[in-house]
Amino acid sequence: MQRGFTLWFTGLSGAGKSTLAEHVAAELRRRGLQVEILDGDEVRTNLSKGLGFSKEDRDTNIKRIGYVCKLLTRNGVVAISAAISPYREIRDYNRAQIGPFIEVYVKCSIEALTRRDVKGLYKKALAGEVKNFTGVSDPYEPPLNPEIVVDSERQREAESLRAILDYLERHAWIPQDPSRAETAQRRV
Ligand code: ADX
Repeated sequence: MQRGFTLWFTGLSGAGKSTLAEHVAAELRRRGLQVEILDGDEVRTNLSKGLGFSKEDRDTNIKRIGYVCKLLTRNGVVAISAAISPYREIRDYNRAQIGPFIEVYVKCSIEALTRRDVKGLYKKALAGEVKNFTGVSDPYEPPLNPEIVVDSERQREAESLRAILDYLERHAWIPQDPSRAETAQRRV
């Protein structure tokens, strides 16, 4: 059975967590691994339906995602979480519960996010129309010691993806790219 682990993305809304999670998942599946994604927006339409954005509700949401990641991880699946998860304490709680836990901080400035504003939420938050918006009127606590940091403001998506895959390969969490491994063998 493959060795399960949790890849835990954290970062502000719009920083690129979901897109990166999708790309990592696709690549790991190509390498024969079983993968599940728990995406913040999607979880909030089922597992966490009805929860809002108070600290208490966010903590409940993140603990639920952590619990599912724990079940998947111990059954050999790669669990990928892509939720803001703004509070350090709850991320660390999940880390302690899960065990094999790799935290990916997707960094991006508020200025860049406001410029992009794909969902139009930053403008509304700045105008006070959306309350308690993470990074604008609600806290975001960046990880102090994440295993991986990607900077979606300065890096292209392909570079960030490469950085994540390199880390996972280097620490033997995932097999080498099968096409590259073949090339390496042929050279011997
Ligand atoms: S978390 O804080 O509980 O981790 P989660 O990732 O599930 O958040 O949901 C974040 C998404 O909800 C954002 O990408 C955004 O689309 C939406 N959202 C709506 N209101 C808020 C808010 N007040 N703060 C942050 N995100 C919000």
